Amino acid sequence: MLIVSHDRYFLDRIVSEVYDMSSGILTHYHGNYSNYVDQKAAKLRREWKEYDKQQAKISKLEDFVNRNIVRASTTKRAQARRKQLAKMDRVDRPEGADKVAHFEFVPTKESGNIVLTTTDLAIGYTPDNVLAQPVNLDVNKHQAIAIVGPNGVGKSTLLKTILGKIPAIKGDVHFGTGVETGYYDQEQKSLHGEKTVLNELWDDHPTTPEGDIRTILGSFLFTGEDVDKMVHSLSGGEKARLLLTKLAMRHDNFLILDEPTNHLDIDSRQVLENTLNDFEGTVLFVSHDRYFINQVATSVVELSAEGSELYLGDYDYYIDKKEEQEAWHPKKKLRQLKLRVQL
Ligand SMILES: Nc1ncnc2c1ncn2[C@@H]1O[C@H](COP(=O)(O)OP(=O)(O)OP(=O)(O)O)[C@@H](O)[C@H]1O
Ligand SMILES: [Mg+2]
Repeated sequence: MLIVSHDRYFLDRIVSEVYDMSSGILTHYHGNYSNYVDQKAAKLRREWKEYDKQQAKISKLEDFVNRNIVRASTTKRAQARRKQLAKMDRVDRPEGADKVAHFEFVPTKESGNIVLTTTDLAIGYTPDNVLAQPVNLDVNKHQAIAIVGPNGVGKSTLLKTILGKIPAIKGDVHFGTGVETGYYDQEQKSLHGEKTVLNELWDDHPTTPEGDIRTILGSFLFTGEDVDKMVHSLSGGEKARLLLTKLAMRHDNFLILDEPTNHLDIDSRQVLENTLNDFEGTVLFVSHDRYFINQVATSVVELSAEGSELYLGDYDYYIDKKEEQEAWHPKKKLRQLKLRVQL
């Protein structure tokens, strides 16, 4: 199998070798994705050591040449060293990571301890077609809760219901005091296709100086001409970065994120992971990226037609618990085994 993927969890479980394509070079590593990350970091450390050692040698030789080339007594030796310098096989400056975004989410104020409560919520688009119920969520300050479930089960619908974009069929949504909510929309609908990247941001913050807007865009890797591009012409990953930029500029204390890693490359996902882990607020997010869930979530909520079920751990914990539960329901297990055999 030859696989191209941004899904690190999948890669960790499947692959035995990795080809890393960066800065125009293909480098081969043995092992799975995590092994590759370790080896790449070790390789980079080795390269920097070698590079620094040679740079020190070069400056010593150059210094000697500069001081002695015009002195009659030592000019011969200086010339020899100059030759040595000219013949030297120069070690290239190691490529640090490829260009990586760096940003942070900083809330302007703290929320109360209770951030969001939903009580016996029923969600859907028509009362006779309820997607999921009862959905009971208790989101407290500093938690990062992942919502998981198969395509079409109603995860995005749940977030839109919480945000009041569509009405609840039944039940209550209650936000705590001092909660300021920011939303990352899976469909990226809050972007304006006909605006430029610069204006997409500047129109939200007209009193911020242009230079500051450009600096912020730069930290999300929009530099030079990128900021004059039309939003509709951006790639999926670029649009995702622009949405994250807009979100970061709002300084909310509660982030509701619908598949924020979609389209993002592995480096950007890692940056987002770190950013969310450093975030002093609260996060409720939907994701299919198991690696990302493991890095960020403090607990996992599984959504199904029967409503919400809470698991107090990361994605691996959720999977372990599910397997345990299935073992307790031999009939269900048998059904699943049969299904697997059929597949
Ligand atoms: N505006 C709408 N009107 C009617 N039905 C809709 C509407 N939007 C979505 N649906 C339906 O509601 C169901 C749930 O959709 P939703 O987008 O919430 O799923 P999801 O769990 O977020 O899936 P995914 O993992 O693919 O993002 C789907 O069957 C979808 O077709
Ligand atoms: Mg969705």
